[in-house]
Amino acid sequence: MTHLVLVGMMGVGKSTVGRLVAAELDRPLFDSDEMIEERTGRTVREIWATDGEAAFRELETDTLIEALAAPEPSVIAAAGGVVLSDVNRTALRSTDARVVWLLADLAVLVDRVRAGGHRPLLDEDPEGALRRLYDVREPLYHEVADAVVSVDNRSAHDVAKAVLRCCA
Ligand code: S3P
Repeated sequence: MTHLVLVGMMGVGKSTVGRLVAAELDRPLFDSDEMIEERTGRTVREIWATDGEAAFRELETDTLIEALAAPEPSVIAAAGGVVLSDVNRTALRSTDARVVWLLADLAVLVDRVRAGGHRPLLDEDPEGALRRLYDVREPLYHEVADAVVSVDNRSAHDVAKAVLRCCA
């Protein structure tokens, strides 16, 4: 029994699918953005605006390392940018956690993401931003993933079932 980590782009459904998978497996869920907001008492957007992206990424690394170090097997919904850091990718590869990459067509992501909220990177030209981010991140998701699950044309429940089938 090891941690199950969901990675993938913003809007792919990591938090929703993570909740369903955690409930099914009766495991705790660590959602990195939520952990950061609980710890700091500030929203992702506030941290980003006041302290900048680099400070946010440090908090992201802290929460990932902490979640991976928990002794009880959990489900970890890692924020989309978690793969950007070498430290995070090494941590994901060097534990025995199962890393599942949730993959979606760009059009599906564009349809799902909303302006505002906890995604300052998408404030301007969300479609273009998602495309640029995906180009950079695709090889990084590849690098850490043990399995890939497509979310296109599937409900969150169906995605959760597919994750459980492949990886739990
Ligand atoms: C980000 C993804 C967001 C949030 C922040 C940055 C990213 O989380 O951490 O806006 O760089 O991909 P979700 O992946 O949960 O949307």
